[in-house]
Amino acid sequence: MAHVGDAGARDVRLLSTARRGVQRFAVSHEGTVFAHVEVGRARPTLRTVGVSPAADREGSLPAAAWPTASADRAAAARWADHHVAVLTVARVDLAEGAGDRAREALEAVGLHLAEAGARRLDVRVPAADPVAGWLRGAGWMQGAVGASMVASHSLGYPWSHPKEPSGTASRRSGRLPQPVRRLGRRLATMRPAQVPELAQIAAAEVGAAVRLRYAPGPPRVHPVDGAPPGTFPFAVTRYRTIRTALDLVPPDLRSTRFVDIGCGDGRVLREAIDRGWSSVHGRELEAALGDRARAAIGGHGTVEVGDGLVAPLPDDTGVVYLNNPFQIDGLTRLAALLAGSLARRPRPLVVIYINPRGVGPLAAEGFALVQCTPAFSLLTFASG
Ligand SMILES: C[S@@+](CC[C@H](N)C(=O)[O-])C[C@H]1O[C@@H](n2cnc3c(N)ncnc32)[C@H](O)[C@@H]1O
Repeated sequence: MAHVGDAGARDVRLLSTARRGVQRFAVSHEGTVFAHVEVGRARPTLRTVGVSPAADREGSLPAAAWPTASADRAAAARWADHHVAVLTVARVDLAEGAGDRAREALEAVGLHLAEAGARRLDVRVPAADPVAGWLRGAGWMQGAVGASMVASHSLGYPWSHPKEPSGTASRRSGRLPQPVRRLGRRLATMRPAQVPELAQIAAAEVGAAVRLRYAPGPPRVHPVDGAPPGTFPFAVTRYRTIRTALDLVPPDLRSTRFVDIGCGDGRVLREAIDRGWSSVHGRELEAALGDRARAAIGGHGTVEVGDGLVAPLPDDTGVVYLNNPFQIDGLTRLAALLAGSLARRPRPLVVIYINPRGVGPLAAEGFALVQCTPAFSLLTFASG
């Protein structure tokens, strides 16, 4: 499993698992316990003990790269997330003199939880609490939700089929079939005002599934012949996921080029056009899919057939979309292309990564994680 962040050599000991799955940990360094942390599936506001008022707020992203409005929308979406692999910190007790080590303690507990299947640790804290200022840095995402800050720490990838973290709630829901659990989580986050849009999305999904079912050619369960090692075969992004991800992209980036590496049948490029991007570009290994993508976008952009990780990226690219086209080696090649383009022309750039395998190669090139959900992660170039 790919980990995010490194909490160093901290020792984390599980002290107890209470009813409703709340776990209590002791975190120590060189034999001295400096924090106790409580984590569970419920969504409380954090209680902190032993925190001094001086807050260090360094580490936030430049506004051009990730505006506050996008950060806040992203945080609200995370807080509405009921995935079994998301856990919440309920309480942190810091020993005397350990006042600013809350982040260190949570990152250490996070490494421990990641081994047990957790993928994200959320903290909701009153905006004025000094802890809100500390929970920033690599692998952390922060945004306002009402009068609180929601800070989330990404624990690892991939999200597909993680072990379910232990706890009574997940053990109970674990007895239900997977589709029923997924439906339950969706219903829990649904608002009545969303029903018309969801109905429209469901109709688009059914239409696309029928078109795909009767499309000429063999079913694509293998990558095209001659694909680079580590290539995944064609599969579509769900319309709801595409729209949720595109809605988070800062509006200014709609005037830049939208690039889908591994664009498949072009549905994502079409959605980007419908959402206001005037210039789109797709790259696809499989020629028949490339033809369909060209037909899907009409004259609104270009589609190239072949390995999309060879030619440089256009320097007016502002959004790069990936739906799990390749293993981490492919991502490393893409990160090098991105770094080349950003060195030629520094600018804000967002990567939308659906069903990611890991984000290490992008982080190594200066990208910061700004959203991390079961379906996708978003990264933005931090020094723009
Ligand atoms: C999971 S599909 C995603 C299709 C589309 N982007 C979507 O989300 O609906 C991934 C696609 O990436 C293509 N692909 C994989 N590696 C590629 C590469 N190096 N260059 C271009 N296309 C690639 C595959 O052929 C496949 O069609």
